[in-house]
Amino acid sequence: MAKTRIIYTCQSCGYQLPKWLGKCPDCNQWNSFVEEKAFEERKGLQVFEGGSSPQPITTLEVKEEDRLKTGIGELDRVLGGGIVLGSAILIGGDPGIGKSTLLLQAMAMLAGNGEKVLYVSGEESPRQTKIRGERLGATSENLFIYAENTLERILDSVKRLKPGILIIDSIQTIYTQALESSPGSVSQVRETSSQLIFNAKGMDMPIFLVGHVTKDGSIAGPRVLEHMVDTVLYFEGERGHQFRILRAVKNRYGSVMEIGVFEMHDKGLEEVTNPSALFLAERPENASGSVVVSSLEGTRPILVEIQSLVCPTIFGIPKRTVVGIDYNRVALLTAVLEKKGGLNIQNHDIFLKVTGGVRLEEPAIDLGIIASLASNFLDKAIPQKTVVFGEVGLAGEVRGISQAEPRINEAEKLGFDKCILPKDNLSKIKGKLEMIGVKSVKEMMDVLF
Ligand code: TYD
Ligand code: MG
Repeated sequence: MAKTRIIYTCQSCGYQLPKWLGKCPDCNQWNSFVEEKAFEERKGLQVFEGGSSPQPITTLEVKEEDRLKTGIGELDRVLGGGIVLGSAILIGGDPGIGKSTLLLQAMAMLAGNGEKVLYVSGEESPRQTKIRGERLGATSENLFIYAENTLERILDSVKRLKPGILIIDSIQTIYTQALESSPGSVSQVRETSSQLIFNAKGMDMPIFLVGHVTKDGSIAGPRVLEHMVDTVLYFEGERGHQFRILRAVKNRYGSVMEIGVFEMHDKGLEEVTNPSALFLAERPENASGSVVVSSLEGTRPILVEIQSLVCPTIFGIPKRTVVGIDYNRVALLTAVLEKKGGLNIQNHDIFLKVTGGVRLEEPAIDLGIIASLASNFLDKAIPQKTVVFGEVGLAGEVRGISQAEPRINEAEKLGFDKCILPKDNLSKIKGKLEMIGVKSVKEMMDVLF
């Protein structure tokens, strides 16, 4: 009889070794190796019957991908215009953020339109799901709930039921009997998800996998999971806030810059079609340090408020606390403001925040960050109806940005009457609001203060 081989697998990156180590040589994680029985290796190369043969790219037939619309506009947009048939979508997020709620709502809509949906819940009993479904108004004969953890039984029911779409909530609770390691371990997650995705692709059935996240916010389990799927979505938001943001971080069928905004109510998630108005709703009046910037999230410009506080450092090293923007970027722009804007700001504590729990990454918000810091430092408020955008370089120059026109239109729609933007963009656009083009940080300061 063959002896079963023992291997040790790093639970953080999936690295395998024949002996235990305290520290993973691949990802440097401590104490992450877990003993597992080696998976019986397949002998020889598997040759599939049929399949396709190589073809010149010019003769390939291009078909518009078939997409299923969930009817939840924000979700459809983040997916790139609906769910592509046969695609695998991984959705991650903190516990309790609303992943199950979002999927149940979306699937109820699809089921209502006649699509057969199988919702596999490894975490909640059918009763719990039913109670939640009733609260959300998600009741349809086409929505099948299945509380199951074993891969083999799930695949069996999929083959019998032949659903149009499959939900696995969550992948960390599913295990295959072929492996002896516990559910949620790297090997189990890798094996079960690859089997599920392989089967789903074969049936041209879209599949949603819900994934847990680790303490540092990435999806738990092997990195390979993100390579196996077509789309990775993160559902994020702050616990105390009712806003939730759905963000695509990988999408083979659409843009990854796209975000969807939702609000959590007692009757489930509601989409927010005009996020700018929502983010600006509680803006203080004539407060120094408050500035509205325009950030392009995918195809949609969003107006968001940035606030800052600049206070003299009482003791020790000046402190920088930043929420919603990369910390280093703020440090860099502070240095530019000091040297090129002529403000003695480096020896001050700086607190900077994007309101509404949004995270901004676009370069176009640079000028807004600088305007906010300068405004609070000088204690001079920026006019309420002014929007600021532009990229800032280390020489203090303000550089042109892409897609200025949709940003201007959005600002106009929300009643803004003045816009400070890069001079480079000024000549190329028309707008009804007053537009002031600036070439440097210094010029912007002259205009504003
Ligand atoms: P859930 O979808 O279970 O989160 P996840 O699957 O990401 O872990 O969301 C549960 C949270 O949402 C819970 O804290 C309660 C809240 N909630 C509402 O506020 N209203 C609702 O209608 C529902 C269904 C949930
Ligand atoms: Mg859940």
